[in-house]
Amino acid sequence: MELVTTVQQVRQQVKAWRKEGLTVGLVPTMGFLHEGHQSLIARAAKENDRVVVSVFVNPIQFGPNEDFAQYPRDLEQDSALCEATGASLLFHPEPEEMYPEHFSTHVDVDGVTENLCGARRPGHFRGVCTVVSKLFHIVAPDRAYFGEKDAQQLAVIRRMVRDLNFDIEIVGCPIVREADGLAKSSRNTYLSPQERRAALVLNRALTAGRTAMERGERRAQAILSIIRDELDEEERANVDYVKMVDSVTMEDVETAQRDVLVAIAVYIGKTRLIDNFTFHVE
Ligand code: PAJ
Repeated sequence: MELVTTVQQVRQQVKAWRKEGLTVGLVPTMGFLHEGHQSLIARAAKENDRVVVSVFVNPIQFGPNEDFAQYPRDLEQDSALCEATGASLLFHPEPEEMYPEHFSTHVDVDGVTENLCGARRPGHFRGVCTVVSKLFHIVAPDRAYFGEKDAQQLAVIRRMVRDLNFDIEIVGCPIVREADGLAKSSRNTYLSPQERRAALVLNRALTAGRTAMERGERRAQAILSIIRDELDEEERANVDYVKMVDSVTMEDVETAQRDVLVAIAVYIGKTRLIDNFTFHVE
């Protein structure tokens, strides 16, 4: 596996692969890789001849009071994990490589970005869509891999790809969890041992909501209050949002009549965690 830092190096490598007729998969990440990221890389390696992983903590998707500076970084370990999992190229640009002086073009996706995390993190998806568009243009992969852990992000990217005619297949991959149910996240490293235990409430609350749906409950209010009640039991947890939305438009629904996404964002101490499930309605 090769580690490169410039757009030109990526383009050169991909061009050489294309000359040989090879297919290319892309896995965009912000690094500090764990088994969630690894599942995306492994899937990409299975479905493509070559895999590019990008590791870039994208400054423009963080709000002014968010954790850009503290965001965990460990390139050496990331590089080892990528190589062991079958990546061919690791792209690790400096911010100046992605955002040179006078950078002034952004990608805004309306509607699907307005609820959930989009409502709570102004400018976040603009930053995500801009950097992902750039990566799509730089790598021009056949397929790109995203986790269902960030369900709204996946819906936003699918919409952007359709609307802007990117010729790239978007592959969504299931949430990878710790043995005790906590969804894996680079941000879990912020949690103290007590907070780590408290964080289990996210999965517990979602499981209670899903169980109610499996028993036939379809009213959003009923399901969301079951989830809220469970979250309220944990004193270290502060709810940011608890929502049931249409799985494509991300708009609130009152009853689950089609496939819905049940998504939560919860502060455990100062750390904001997200989790979700999708429920398929026959
Ligand atoms: P990051 O948080 O590093 O996540 C990179 C990819 O890994 C995303 O598609 C995310 O959904 C997926 N992922 C993270 N944890 C996962 C888990 N437990 N199970 C399955 N997949 C998981 O998401 C971003 O970076 C950025 O916004 C990015 C798309 C790279 C743009 O900067």
